[in-house]
Amino acid sequence: MDEKQLELHKLKEEIISKNICPDLKKQANQLVFGDGNPDSNIVFIGEAPGKNEDLQGVPFVGAAGKFLDEMLQMIGLKRSDVYITNIVKYRPPNNRDPLPIEKQEFMPYLRRQLGIIKPKLVVTLGRHSTNCFLPELKISKIHGQPKRILLSGQKQLTEDLKIVIMPLFHPAAALYNGQMKQTLIDDFSLIPNVINSINKEPING
Ligand code: URA
Repeated sequence: MDEKQLELHKLKEEIISKNICPDLKKQANQLVFGDGNPDSNIVFIGEAPGKNEDLQGVPFVGAAGKFLDEMLQMIGLKRSDVYITNIVKYRPPNNRDPLPIEKQEFMPYLRRQLGIIKPKLVVTLGRHSTNCFLPELKISKIHGQPKRILLSGQKQLTEDLKIVIMPLFHPAAALYNGQMKQTLIDDFSLIPNVINSINKEPING
């Protein structure tokens, strides 16, 4: 195990041992921590595991995950080229929306997860994930528009982390809505250009 994988493994064990969100934990089969390449420049963040994810212990393996895989393929990437995780890491019962308190409890761990991976681009999937980084902003207005933010002043992070957030519609929401689906595909196709421009010039903050 390399250093990042070891750090991530320790973080995962800490979530379990500290009994984060015990009510969710009790009802879930397992913790769904993350999947893919921790050395990637790109991290995708969804909302919470669904039924298939809870059974397999891997994020985005159901219908929304298949769609995500297709869009990755469209821009020449595989799942193993990126890192994929969720804000809330246990399945909420009956796939209900994660509660504000659940997002709040998991947020320090998500920040630390990002602090270990140090991606350049964080693609937030859906409003829950987007609003954890860009509170108050409406995804319907800001989808597809990258924004540079500084994750700082957090005692959970040992150093400030400059990242670009790119909000996208959630693949599960877009899957059965033709117009939203096309918008998501169009936004997704911008990712390679966003990555290329991140190092070159400042992105509107
Ligand atoms: N939806 C999410 O937000 N995350 C998953 O892992 C699966 C579906």
